[in-house]
Amino acid sequence: MERTDYRKLYWKIITTTLTFSLVPLFALGATIYYQFRVSYTAKIMESLRTLTENRRNAIDLFFEERVSQLYTLAYTQSLDQLRDEKYLDQVFTLMQSRSKSFVDIGIIDRDGTHVTYVGPYNLAGVNYKNESWFHEVMLRGVYISDVFMGFRKYPHFIIAVLRREGDRSWILRATIDTEIFDAMVKAAQVGKRGDAYVVNREGILQTAPRFAGHLLGKIESPHTSQFSGIHVEEMQMNGETALFSTTWLKNKDWMLVIKEDPSQELTPLFEARYMMIGIIGLGVLVIVLGTVFVSRATVGQLIQSDREKAMLDASLVQSGKMAALGKLAAGIAHEVNNPLAVIKEKVGWMMDLLSEEDISQSENFKEFDDAVHKIDQHVERAKKVTHRLLGFARRMEPIKDKVDVNKLVDETIDFLENEAHYRNIVIQPEYHADLPTTLSDSSQLQQVVLNILNNAIDAIGKNGQIDVKTDYSVKDEQIVITISDNGPGIPNDQLDRIFDPFFTTKEVGMGTGLGLSISYTIVDKLGGRILVSSEVGKGTTFTIYLPVIRQEKA
Ligand SMILES: Nc1ncnc2c1ncn2[C@@H]1O[C@H](COP(=O)(O)OP(=O)(O)OP(=O)(O)O)[C@@H](O)[C@H]1O
Ligand SMILES: [Mg+2]
Repeated sequence: MERTDYRKLYWKIITTTLTFSLVPLFALGATIYYQFRVSYTAKIMESLRTLTENRRNAIDLFFEERVSQLYTLAYTQSLDQLRDEKYLDQVFTLMQSRSKSFVDIGIIDRDGTHVTYVGPYNLAGVNYKNESWFHEVMLRGVYISDVFMGFRKYPHFIIAVLRREGDRSWILRATIDTEIFDAMVKAAQVGKRGDAYVVNREGILQTAPRFAGHLLGKIESPHTSQFSGIHVEEMQMNGETALFSTTWLKNKDWMLVIKEDPSQELTPLFEARYMMIGIIGLGVLVIVLGTVFVSRATVGQLIQSDREKAMLDASLVQSGKMAALGKLAAGIAHEVNNPLAVIKEKVGWMMDLLSEEDISQSENFKEFDDAVHKIDQHVERAKKVTHRLLGFARRMEPIKDKVDVNKLVDETIDFLENEAHYRNIVIQPEYHADLPTTLSDSSQLQQVVLNILNNAIDAIGKNGQIDVKTDYSVKDEQIVITISDNGPGIPNDQLDRIFDPFFTTKEVGMGTGLGLSISYTIVDKLGGRILVSSEVGKGTTFTIYLPVIRQEKA
């Protein structure tokens, strides 16, 4: 796989994992929040509805009590009795002793004239014939007015009841103190921004609200048409969004409005939302970090195992080549060796014959002698190749014995000391002090070191340095032999072919191209590995890894 493929895989794992874990998380969060919001809002609306209902019942009761008080008075007393101002005053004082909700009281005759009046204002004799409320009472028997300023220049409203007494009709009229009524409504103003007020059909305020306006002012009313029951809804009114609960009163076409500030009421909901966002955010962070970590580890492991597999593949290919070559080499060497032996024998015989010739008698003697010697020389060369090949084939099974690698390397360098000296090449050894001994085939191993050192000397040619180092890796239990030269290096395109049998860059007759392939096979059989790294112009390093074997396996 290419580097970009790993990147792609990495991102694919990340996106898939994130999608499959984040989507359910968000869905869960949204669902929980939505459910909570719905039930919480329902709860708030319910409590607002209850508050409104209680308030309305209280107000209704207030009206009913006043009306029935007046009815009782009108129907238990006769007009003649009540006409007496003193008597009316007595009755009024009695009524006020229980609750001071009335301001004044008066009797109005069928012509609209205020015949008797008890109260702080001087209203006796005033005629109400042209007031619309007067006709309403005459028609319906009971009347509750809107709040108005009237003659008194003070906000008030009146309740009037009609009594038919024989052929006479008269009206008992009382003024209600708006302050008491106001206080009842205001009791529903909850929270810092809550409001409660009463409006009539035309949107005229009948009580003084906290924020919405002032008494008898006109405001935008949530509803203008009558309905039964209680409406609770979120509405935008007068520039702000709030929860409005509205209901019409039973005895009067007034509407009770209770407003609640949702931002205050919904604080727990917002807190829950922030907590939710916090928890989800934390979850996202953990998931993202976890995903990145796991993806990295997975891809890292994949790269590692791919690399190992590639290495194993390469070494399997190389081993395959070697095995095939081994068989082939043995066959060819054997077949070629016999004719070579015959040629060698015949050449020896011809040489003997030539030595008995009289030189002066034979005019082509020189040519014959030359040719025979050349044949002998080339047969020798051919035998060297077949000898190596046979050796290669035979060396398949190593003979293992205790080997001191430092000593072995030192001896090998000794072999080449003269040659190196002659070519002005310094061989610089550096031995690991506590190298363990290992079970290995010393002569085969020596051949490997010799081959590599020979190659290095050949590569340098003249004037250079070869560093030979032994080391021990405790972790892998391996002996490491490193041979570096400062020769010309190996071009990249040749690097993976140098272990191939018969690959050589040397002149014909100078190299067989078998040195490294034989070395490779040997190290492989010994359970180790050879690696090469090279840079053109700088030099080449061969590294041999040998396992430390302390005891032959049974
Ligand atoms: N240290 C080195 N520096 C540069 N090239 C090298 C080095 N070692 C090996 N090579 C290259 O690898 C080739 C193969 O080496 P190998 O030992 O298998 O065969 P050879 O040396 O050519 O022949 P022989 O080993 O029979 O003498 C060499 O011909 C050379 O091109
Ligand atoms: Mg060689």
